[in-house]
Amino acid sequence: MPQIDANQIIETQRQDWNRVAPAWEKWDQLLERNLAFVNYRLIGDARLRFGQNVLDIGCGTGYPALLAAQVVGSTGKVLGLDLAEEMLVVARRKAHSLGVANVTFQTADATTLQVATDSYDAVISRFCLMFLPDIHKAMNEIARLLKPKGYFAAAVWSSADKNPFLRIPMDVLKRFIALPPPEPEQPGLFRLAKPGELAGIAERIGLQDITDEEVRGEAPFESADEYLASLMDMAAPLQSLFNKLSSSQRDEAQSEIKRAADGYRRGNKIFLPIAVRIVVARKP
Ligand SMILES: C[S@@+](CC[C@H](N)C(=O)[O-])C[C@H]1O[C@@H](n2cnc3c(N)ncnc32)[C@H](O)[C@@H]1O
Repeated sequence: MPQIDANQIIETQRQDWNRVAPAWEKWDQLLERNLAFVNYRLIGDARLRFGQNVLDIGCGTGYPALLAAQVVGSTGKVLGLDLAEEMLVVARRKAHSLGVANVTFQTADATTLQVATDSYDAVISRFCLMFLPDIHKAMNEIARLLKPKGYFAAAVWSSADKNPFLRIPMDVLKRFIALPPPEPEQPGLFRLAKPGELAGIAERIGLQDITDEEVRGEAPFESADEYLASLMDMAAPLQSLFNKLSSSQRDEAQSEIKRAADGYRRGNKIFLPIAVRIVVARKP
């Protein structure tokens, strides 16, 4: 198996997500509309309560940190960490406009956290852990900084076949370029999709009361154009692949993506199935 260059992965992640940060701000309402249910799941599964101290790993533009801050209230605190400073600039702007004052956003790499041991009531994370070069190391860090009996709750993407929302562009891309199957340990959208994968790591590092559940939903779009435009703007992992196409191939690929998305039309909207794996665990 080829060696994974952790520093290279982290640098690519930082650049990719910094580049798409303005698009995440532009499409924020759509993100909120389509994926807010995942935030509520994580907040509930981590049993967040008033007054708690919460860490969000890979919070991007503030999901689910901003909702967590509202739940823990003025006597609680939330710290959102992310590699990409530009994503955090958007998160801070959103906190300000929502009037949420008990949240702080800092740049950090999830695998090397400078956070005190036993200091958080809960650690939450949405759609970040599968991009880490060393998930085991990050989970050890999470276990270290949780208080005893503290909760960990994370959402990662389930498998591609259950996620047309993400699979459609990959299927179309495969018709134009060879996409080698990802190495088992290679970070990517579906790295933690398998049942038991993240839960197994949680178990091996000594967390308890582990649950691993697949939650299905649908992402509604006004049109295939809206789906395509938001995807092309925001999906950092896909952009580098699309850049390998010639401009005529790109046009053709975009028409094919719209045609495939249109297959999920109900009435005047498009509803793309999504499947999310939610893993919850507790420090002994
Ligand atoms: C798909 S975005 C999710 C952002 C947010 N949690 C959400 O659900 O909207 C993935 C985020 O993980 C962050 N990320 C990737 N690798 C990271 C690492 N090693 N440490 C911290 N954050 C990381 C990226 O910068 C990016 O903001």
